[in-house]
Amino acid sequence: MKNTIIAEKETKYKILPILKERYSPRVFSDTPVSELELRTLFEAGRWAPSSYNRQPWRIIWGLKGSKTYDRIFECLSEFNQSWAKNAPVLLLSAFKKVTDDGQENFHALHDLGLFMGNVTVQAQHLGIALHQMAGVLYDKAKKDFNFPDEYHIATSVAIGYYGGDKKNLPIDLREEENPENRTRLVQQEFTFNGNYIQKEELKSSKDKIDSHKKQIMKKINDLD
Ligand SMILES: Cc1cc2nc3c(=O)[nH]c(=O)nc-3n(C[C@H](O)[C@H](O)[C@H](O)COP(=O)(O)O)c2cc1C
Repeated sequence: MKNTIIAEKETKYKILPILKERYSPRVFSDTPVSELELRTLFEAGRWAPSSYNRQPWRIIWGLKGSKTYDRIFECLSEFNQSWAKNAPVLLLSAFKKVTDDGQENFHALHDLGLFMGNVTVQAQHLGIALHQMAGVLYDKAKKDFNFPDEYHIATSVAIGYYGGDKKNLPIDLREEENPENRTRLVQQEFTFNGNYIQKEELKSSKDKIDSHKKQIMKKINDLD
């Protein structure tokens, strides 16, 4: 793996190192990503599962220095332009929102996510990082890149090898460039072995348990 900074956030359970080490940087190494490497990432995406095997994902890609790269860059929000200009590759991801018989494909965005998941994992295996962006001028991108009405633009993605100098970032973003600060919900907040429970309910039952624990501790202390 080239130029990889390892982001070793502790996980509660043991997971694949490439999942644990991945993060979304805003600086990248100068090492270019070749078309062959990019094709390898797309190949990983190509084998993702999709509803009815519809494969609704579509990708526009450009290598730094090319006209397509500049055209994708022009479709980014101002904030994303402030850092993504250093990325060796820029993508636009889109999905076909209808089926061949004109019905809404309710799972198209889901399937594009699976595609990107495969791309992300394959990239991490090669020491390449992805930073996905929702901050895109969707209408402009759709028009500029000639997508018909039945398509939606979903994201732009900056791609490059891990590494690079934080000084290339606007000052306020330099501090955020710290993979050690990555945080996640605890599993109890999003997994339910039964009915769904609202976060507030979870909190109030946790408070009840805490207060119950306190009462028990008090009783034990009173016995001493
Ligand atoms: C669909 C999607 C849209 C995102 N949009 C942006 C964006 O517009 N700008 C940005 O700087 N980061 C963006 N991010 C990056 C997230 O903020 C980042 O993935 C999240 O904070 C978790 O950090 P990690 O990927 O380093 O674990 C986006 C990520 C995803 C998956």
